[in-house]
Amino acid sequence: MLDHGAAPPTAERSRSGLTAPRPGSRALGPRLMRRKPVELLVAEGGQGEGGKLRRSLGMWQLTMISIGATLGTGIFVVLGEAVPDAGPAVVVSFAIAGLTALFSALSYAELAGTIPVSGSSYSYAYATLGELVAWVCGWCLILEYGVSVAAVAVGWGQYLNELLDGTLGVTIPDALAAPPGDGGLFNLPALLVVLLAMAFLLGGAKESARANTIMVTVKIAALVLFCAVAFTGVRAGNYTPFMPLGMAGVSAAGATLFFSYIGFDAASTAGEEARNPQRDLPRAIMLSLVIVTALYCLVAAVAVGALPWKRFAGSEAALAGIMKDVTGQSFWAVLLAAGAVVAIASVVLTVLYGQTRILFAMSRDGLVPKVFSKVHPASGVPRANTVIVSLFCGVLAAAIPLGQLADATSIGTLFAFALVNIAVIVLRRTRPTMQRTFRVPLSPLFPLVGFGLCLWMMGSLDRVTWMVFGVWMAVGLVLYFAYGMRRSRLATAEK
Ligand code: ALA
Repeated sequence: MLDHGAAPPTAERSRSGLTAPRPGSRALGPRLMRRKPVELLVAEGGQGEGGKLRRSLGMWQLTMISIGATLGTGIFVVLGEAVPDAGPAVVVSFAIAGLTALFSALSYAELAGTIPVSGSSYSYAYATLGELVAWVCGWCLILEYGVSVAAVAVGWGQYLNELLDGTLGVTIPDALAAPPGDGGLFNLPALLVVLLAMAFLLGGAKESARANTIMVTVKIAALVLFCAVAFTGVRAGNYTPFMPLGMAGVSAAGATLFFSYIGFDAASTAGEEARNPQRDLPRAIMLSLVIVTALYCLVAAVAVGALPWKRFAGSEAALAGIMKDVTGQSFWAVLLAAGAVVAIASVVLTVLYGQTRILFAMSRDGLVPKVFSKVHPASGVPRANTVIVSLFCGVLAAAIPLGQLADATSIGTLFAFALVNIAVIVLRRTRPTMQRTFRVPLSPLFPLVGFGLCLWMMGSLDRVTWMVFGVWMAVGLVLYFAYGMRRSRLATAEK
């Protein structure tokens, strides 16, 4: 039996911070460091205002949620941007980025099995590193989830245009396909895909997971089809020189490609809707990462074998172009564009889902307004939350040129991953006897390596991205001190 429900032994309790700050304590330090007991986090699982989330998701659907959130623009678009840096060794770059993700995925797997709640890394930080760090983590997750939904929705519009062009010979005019500042008035396709995802989410987690499973099957099929067709065009000579720009190019491409692994943690936001979260979440996270890494390396190896690496420069839809080159028929390129449209739509669906559930957990803790944790009693869906988040992301995608804010998604994600690695080490120290369904091997070495790799990747991002991140964090801190710190449920319980 897991000891989730039981109170921790006294020695553990004092180390874990379960001895909350003295009632009435006005000192700022202890208030910012207050931690939410793991038992309380788990006991509250599923509870919203006025209703409960439903536990309907099995291991397979959870795995599909993580693959759905991960496999998208990274492989369909970003691969083309990375090859000019790495050459044929882009396969190694994918492996390096995958290895970086792997260490953090191990930490996610341990904590998702131990604290299986919707808040994901935000909740893990609340249990281990205190309220302020948890808020900072949740604020970073808005970059990883909310802002990236908007960025990915913009990419979806570009592929939709390509598909329309290939099938009907028409494209959506620029005025309706780009925001002001990017040469248009409004990005209609971006808004549409977000609204479509909202409609699925309002239908229920189970229904959304079902739609996502179909979409993931289509996108994996599209990539396997790519490999089969493009393989016929592979020439051994295209693999030499293997590293034209040396190891520096390979690692720069690895940092760029890290984006394509973002999302493997999405299953952890379904902790309160999983049927057997302790068992299934760690498996889903690890399995999705293995499947995605294998697919990425395979697709990359075939792509650089079929097209000389220098010809990738400036090609936006590299995979579709390769299909056309190899077969001499545009039909295959259109088919791949259709696969990309479905692929990116499933990223929007699952990442939007994740954002609603993270805000659900933050709202239950009092750090964001209560409306985000209201659950419709009949459908078991946080309806108002879903509508607000979708409208926010839809308008962001449609009307704001995202530019550097989109680049900041990687830095925010890496920061959240770094905190998860630390949270594993802290929980092992503060709650050593707590039963874990999955354990990171060689802890604390592996979590420390994961932490170091995240910092190293953050260091390789440019100065402007860091400045955007700094401003984002400053806004987050102002909001915390103005709202969350005083409204936090732990704070009100202390009064
Ligand atoms: N990993 C996701 C993608 O590549 C964000 O679209």
